Amino acid sequence: MRLVHDLRAVAALARDKGFRYALGAVRKVVLYRLHWWFHDRALDHRYGATTRGGVTPDQLTVTGPNRDLGIEYMPTPGWVLRRILQRLPGAPAEFVFVDVGAGKGRMLLVAAELGYKRVVGVEFARELIDIARANAAGQRRRRPDATEVEVLHEDATTFAVPDEPCVFFLYHPFDAPVLEAFVENVRRFWEHRPRPIYLVYVNPVHEAVLARAGFLHAATHRFRDGLTHALSPHTVTVYAADR
Ligand SMILES: C[S@@+](CC[C@H](N)C(=O)[O-])C[C@H]1O[C@@H](n2cnc3c(N)ncnc32)[C@H](O)[C@@H]1O
Repeated sequence: MRLVHDLRAVAALARDKGFRYALGAVRKVVLYRLHWWFHDRALDHRYGATTRGGVTPDQLTVTGPNRDLGIEYMPTPGWVLRRILQRLPGAPAEFVFVDVGAGKGRMLLVAAELGYKRVVGVEFARELIDIARANAAGQRRRRPDATEVEVLHEDATTFAVPDEPCVFFLYHPFDAPVLEAFVENVRRFWEHRPRPIYLVYVNPVHEAVLARAGFLHAATHRFRDGLTHALSPHTVTVYAADR
């Protein structure tokens, strides 16, 4: 029944948006499912966590002006993040990992296993913060040597950017005006105290905003890795501000 339903959905997409678009959508769904079965299910199981399952903004409690510019919760496959982080230069122990729009915190669990100095999630939806904190607590109980995870109930445009070298992670969390304000916030902190910054942008819908930022330059070519590219449901771009 499910297969029939899926085939009908693909046929409708091909009719409305063309065959190539429908094929791209099928690729994404298949890859998401494979990542879930072969990696993310085990991660959730290991920590008694629940990071799976999309959540739309109308199911969430969010206040503030950026509410309607946020994108629904959908987790990145943990394997994709791990591959990217393992290819960034510099020792994780010197960097703070910040997931901007952290959702249920799957990326925080992955980063906490990699030895980052600090692991911080920034999220504006109350319900997701509660889940992310519970997931982090599960990891803490079962793996006390993992980096402690902080989940901040903040908007991405106003949180206090850490005064240390940072890896920012964004899985297309919001629309261009919010991304611009976030980048501006980071730029202010960076100009006050220049330091190495990496920004990993998955599904980089608003790449133009980062290209205009001035202090960040595209660095994906330095970490290109065919397998990640082939097995990630979405394109990933990496930016750097080296100083
Ligand atoms: C596509 S999900 C990404 C989840 C997580 N980073 C991952 O990759 O597994 C985007 C998340 O960004 C959050 N978000 C959207 N706009 C935000 C904002 N202005 N400030 C903080 N969080 C925001 C949403 O609530 C959602 O949880």
